[in-house]
Amino acid sequence: MTTIAPQLELPPVDHVPRPYDGPPREELIAMRKQFTNPAVYTIYKEPLLIVEGHMQYLYDETGKRYLDLLAGIVTVSVGHCHPRFVKRVTQQVSTLQHATTIYLHPNFPMLAKKLASKMPPGLDVTYFTNSGSEANDLAIQMARLYTGHHDVIALRNAYHGGSPSAMGLTSHSTWKFPVGGDGHVHHAMNPDPYRSPFKGTPEEIASMSAADIRDLIRFSTPGKVAAFLAEPLQGVGGVTYGAPNYLKEAYAIVREFGGLCISDEVQTGFGRTGDHYWGFQNWDVVPDFVTMAKGLGNGVPIGAVTTRMEIAKSLTQRIHFNTFGNNPVSMAAGLAVLDIIDEDGLQENCRVLGARFKGGLRKLQKSHQLIGDVRGMGLMLGVELVRDRATKSPAKQETVDLMEALREMSVLVGKGGLDGNVLRIKPPMCITAADVDYALDVLDVGLGQVTRK
Ligand SMILES: Cc1ncc(COP(=O)(O)O)c(C=O)c1O
Repeated sequence: MTTIAPQLELPPVDHVPRPYDGPPREELIAMRKQFTNPAVYTIYKEPLLIVEGHMQYLYDETGKRYLDLLAGIVTVSVGHCHPRFVKRVTQQVSTLQHATTIYLHPNFPMLAKKLASKMPPGLDVTYFTNSGSEANDLAIQMARLYTGHHDVIALRNAYHGGSPSAMGLTSHSTWKFPVGGDGHVHHAMNPDPYRSPFKGTPEEIASMSAADIRDLIRFSTPGKVAAFLAEPLQGVGGVTYGAPNYLKEAYAIVREFGGLCISDEVQTGFGRTGDHYWGFQNWDVVPDFVTMAKGLGNGVPIGAVTTRMEIAKSLTQRIHFNTFGNNPVSMAAGLAVLDIIDEDGLQENCRVLGARFKGGLRKLQKSHQLIGDVRGMGLMLGVELVRDRATKSPAKQETVDLMEALREMSVLVGKGGLDGNVLRIKPPMCITAADVDYALDVLDVGLGQVTRK
């Protein structure tokens, strides 16, 4: 496809990227091919080399600037190289990088205390890990230890990680290797009304989907479960979720059968959904565990499991140790992120700009048949592309073509959903109204180009 870049200009910025003096692109591609595991993939026909970041923008080796609407897969929360974040992490790196939790250090309990201040009462004890997969593994382990039950319910269309046990929780065949996994995980019907096989209002579909959990427990488990794990809005799945009654009904059923409820906030946490700090708060439920990662570190590796003390105690019956899990640098990153989200008003920015973005996407839906569904909250938005609005046939190739067209016009987005036909828009939480308007103009042009192709 040849695209003619129109006269659209990214909003101005006074940041000047440094000249790139690393190995050329072709050499990097060759090195990756020869020396790195071929499972590590790039997107775009011509892989993009990114060498610098500034807030909501990324720069390639030529100095070309891009509006980053994916944020390193929902990981850059406060902004690429946010100056106050850099200062606080640099201070920690130059003071003490690592010693482990066998000694005291202020950052570890300080971050745990700060997280407790952001949670509903009682959810105030945290264990830190390196990643979201580890956080989910650990939450499941604690749920099993505490309840004495083994079976776990997760949702279809979920992504909860790629470690051997988290892979069992994930429910897209694309991410599941045929090597065993956790046989005690059962995947319940997804409440997303757009693709549900159930018929009815979104609320009725939510109730029928929640009722499926009861059936699943009665048919496929010993009648007791350890846990129910769900994202409040499914990220990798393409920003899917049920009507507001879903999680409430689902949690009640799971608790009836002895299970604990885990909210995977790896993508939805820290104010991204706008109205609330945590995704679960949008659905008026209180989980027994909150797992998180990604945005908590703004790019520094970190994960965490927050739960109640009585549940956390289950982990004391043996030794559980994580070498890097509580290291002072990751903890400094977490402390800086939580402070900056408050200081810079980023949750409010997600609320206001998310509404502006979603409104603009809904307008585009009126003029572009390719857009089947627009959904999401705050700055966690999904645009499902379909070839035919009646059959909802996934527009897979068009999604790829659109991403290429957007890249040419300096906008980077992600894609998700089982068929890879949902644009994922989850920028750093610091984007501006001018960025949103630019992205909408570019999407309008790109959608036109893809449709005409
Ligand atoms: C909702 C959710 N949970 C868990 C994970 C796994 O996190 P990690 O890649 O840090 O292991 C991801 C990663 O994309 C995620 O989106």
